[in-house]
Amino acid sequence: MRDIAVIGVGYVGLVTGACFADLGNRVVCLDINEEKIKGLKQGIMPIYEPGLEELVTRNVRAGRLTFTTSYTEALREAEFAFIAVGTPEGVDGEADLRYVRMAAQSIANVLDHPLIIVNKSTVPVGTGDWVADIVRAHMTNEVPFSVVSCPEFLREGSAISDFMHPSRVVLGSVDRKAAEQVAQLHLPLRTTIMITDLRTAEMVKYASNAFLAARISFINEIANICEALGADVKEVATGMGYDPRIGPAFLDAGIGYGGSCFPKDVKALAHMASTHGRHPQLLHAVIEINNDQRRQVVWKLHEILGNLQDKTVGLLGLAFKPNTDDMREAPSITIARYLLAEGAQVRAYDPVAMENGARELPEVQMMPDPYTLSEGCDALVVVTEWNEFKNLDLTRIREAMRQPVLVDGRNIYDPAIAQAMGFIYRGVGRGYNGEGPHKKA
Ligand code: UDX
Repeated sequence: MRDIAVIGVGYVGLVTGACFADLGNRVVCLDINEEKIKGLKQGIMPIYEPGLEELVTRNVRAGRLTFTTSYTEALREAEFAFIAVGTPEGVDGEADLRYVRMAAQSIANVLDHPLIIVNKSTVPVGTGDWVADIVRAHMTNEVPFSVVSCPEFLREGSAISDFMHPSRVVLGSVDRKAAEQVAQLHLPLRTTIMITDLRTAEMVKYASNAFLAARISFINEIANICEALGADVKEVATGMGYDPRIGPAFLDAGIGYGGSCFPKDVKALAHMASTHGRHPQLLHAVIEINNDQRRQVVWKLHEILGNLQDKTVGLLGLAFKPNTDDMREAPSITIARYLLAEGAQVRAYDPVAMENGARELPEVQMMPDPYTLSEGCDALVVVTEWNEFKNLDLTRIREAMRQPVLVDGRNIYDPAIAQAMGFIYRGVGRGYNGEGPHKKA
């Protein structure tokens, strides 16, 4: 059993804290947001993540997991302090490090025994050194400390399983012994542990996310070419994925990537490159293609419906992906705003993200279920591929709609079946029924 403090109770922090507690450690999770900590003490989760509430409750009951807003309390026994605070997008795509700075200063203010500071937040390359400088500058007691970078690769919706079964653990530090201690903490996960230098570990995170984002933009570009040539991108991706050098994952064409990581990290990497005299052409293209994928939905609606003024469009899904209520950088926001700007009436249904959605999109009318949503609609757009949308009674939906237009932004329906049911169907890179390129109206 080791003593761990986790700073920040967002996705990364809360999952990290609860999982380390579940592995038998004593964990204190800290956040400066009193509401969140008050809620957690009463068993109320600040985020929706499958399995998290049960994991937190179990470990709180076992006495291994506690919550506080006090750095003194969090660090009293801690051997490790994980920084897992937000690094939102700042000006020009540059990461905003104010919360990391606050955490480093607060740690330094109360530090009175040796500590290993582990940075889990996604931070620009070089931030580990900067954190060490801040701690050194603000220390009130001269005690030894080290900084280790341990980037987090978990995905929302499968965060606990990703933490418990990681593809790898990457650690970076100038202090090899400190990195080895952090490696020890991860031994129960039985995975590959790589130890490298601080900046390289920080770069692994950006390079991995940028590569995955590039895969998505690549397949989306192929989808657009498929649309022009009458091929089916889903089949193309399957055919490509059989090549072990390519693999099948992350080749789902759609309305583009969203969420708290990919959009922000690709921009931050491009910004880091540009400010160091490099020209990240590929990264710019990845971003541009991703922006276009959202516009494509509106272009497709135009092509079929003409003017969108006073047309009613229903969005099936709001969250940036299924199994989360997260609306950060969700394509639904951009798409809804484009539609509203064109004078359309926009309504939406999402199984868990409507509360967050309503905050982002107050002009969008939230509906209680997909069937009520479709009543009187001129078009439906599949924005999030929730499982519950895959087996909808499409006949009932079509009959409820004013016009049977279905834009499937996640390719969840079979184009031939949807068309046979009387829908004017548009997928992404598929579904033109042998007509070749979609015709301009
Ligand atoms: C991502 C990374 O996967 C994770 O390693 C990192 O720590 C944080 O960022 P997350 O944002 O939770 O995780 O979601 P992920 O499942 O990776 O999907 C990201 C976005 O890409 C979603 O908007 C999703 O819809 C989109 N996506 C994903 C595609 O459009 N096509 C795909 O083939 C895969």
